[in-house]
Amino acid sequence: MKYKRLRGVKDVTGDEGMLWENMIKTVTAVIKSRGYRLIITPVIEETALFVRGIGEASDIVLKEMYDFKDKKGRNIVLRPEGTASVVRAYIENSLPEKSDLYYIGPMFRYERPQTGRYREFFQAGVESFGDGSPYKDAEIIIMGNAIIKKLGISARLVINNLGGAEEYAEKLKTFLEGAREALCDDCLKKLERAPLRVLDCKKTETCGKAVKDAPKITEYLNGQNLKNYSKIKQLLKDAGVDFREDPKMVRGLDYYTGTVFEFITDKLGPQQNTILAGGRYDNLVKELGGKQAPATGFALGFERISEVIKAEKSYAAGIYETDVFVVTQEGLADKGFLTLEKLRADGVSAGMSFEVKSFKAQMREAASKGACFAVIIGESEARKGSASVKNMKDGVQVEVEFENLSDFIKGRQ
Ligand code: HAM
Repeated sequence: MKYKRLRGVKDVTGDEGMLWENMIKTVTAVIKSRGYRLIITPVIEETALFVRGIGEASDIVLKEMYDFKDKKGRNIVLRPEGTASVVRAYIENSLPEKSDLYYIGPMFRYERPQTGRYREFFQAGVESFGDGSPYKDAEIIIMGNAIIKKLGISARLVINNLGGAEEYAEKLKTFLEGAREALCDDCLKKLERAPLRVLDCKKTETCGKAVKDAPKITEYLNGQNLKNYSKIKQLLKDAGVDFREDPKMVRGLDYYTGTVFEFITDKLGPQQNTILAGGRYDNLVKELGGKQAPATGFALGFERISEVIKAEKSYAAGIYETDVFVVTQEGLADKGFLTLEKLRADGVSAGMSFEVKSFKAQMREAASKGACFAVIIGESEARKGSASVKNMKDGVQVEVEFENLSDFIKGRQ
């Protein structure tokens, strides 16, 4: 009997593991440099949190929840996204009103699997609470842009503002009633409960054509929302961040109340081309039982980003590098092991073969592991309390006292 992974999930192995390690490092470095702090929330939550948070009419809640009853009959779900969980934790733990938080972890949606679309996928995300100023929106979007740049990939930024959504939904519904014949079955269902979602239909061309002349949501923006939106656009321009406005971009989650944005790649199919997305959601904290608090944030998907990196670059992960590989002559493994752990304790990354191998075979392994130095312990070195340090690039070898070994290697790096 051979076990196989479930449909729509992924093993990250070999070179891709290194790619993921680099992605995670890069993403968290950009986020942390802006003062955001890590929050970890559970993978399982009450189902009601997301029904309320994401919206009853959203595809995620209607079709994609990994929900089940636990042994006591409680309704539990594997979280489909991070925002509602972080809002719950923000309220439940009475976090400071102004909180800038980030998270990283697996999310679950029962979607039809294909390239870039999984049932378990890893997100990194940021959520900022207590700041309603357009500077915050701009900071968040510029942070997304910085992540994409640092990862060395390209994506188009598309923005919209959902501020006037309620009034607009009525107008749109009336317009779409007049174009019923052109709409697909899914869109006809959406027309009643969530007309904005029809704008986002990626299934048929006729739906796209039908909404071409629909009224635009940005025409319904007014007051502070309109002012903020203009300010955000100006701040992005001043910061040299290119963007395009798309009044038909509505996002798949119901909590947005202001400026929303998506970074889109052309390397994945049209139904999964968004790699980083988010926006302002000023009512969610209150809707989930907290005090009114403005909020905005985004999330990115690591699977999609890794697929873009692989598609865009001739990706060479290289080998897993340690700085040092310890090589011993026969019978000196104990001394070698002691040296290995001493180097590690001093902060030098080091490896060693624990199998009994010839000197030559150990040197070959040192080269294949990409070590910069081989630390060689032979009979004469062991007697003198020293080691020979061989530079693997130029072959130059010097003898160094055991005491000074770590400092010597650090000084040569
Ligand atoms: P979202 O657009 O649903 O937003 O997901 C954000 C990102 O997660 C997507 O751009 C994509 O990279 C990745 N993603 C989503 N679904 C899948 C999937 N099935 N397979 C692989 N990757 C996927 C949110 O989740 C919001 N919580 C973002 C947010 C945070 N808004 C405000 N704060």
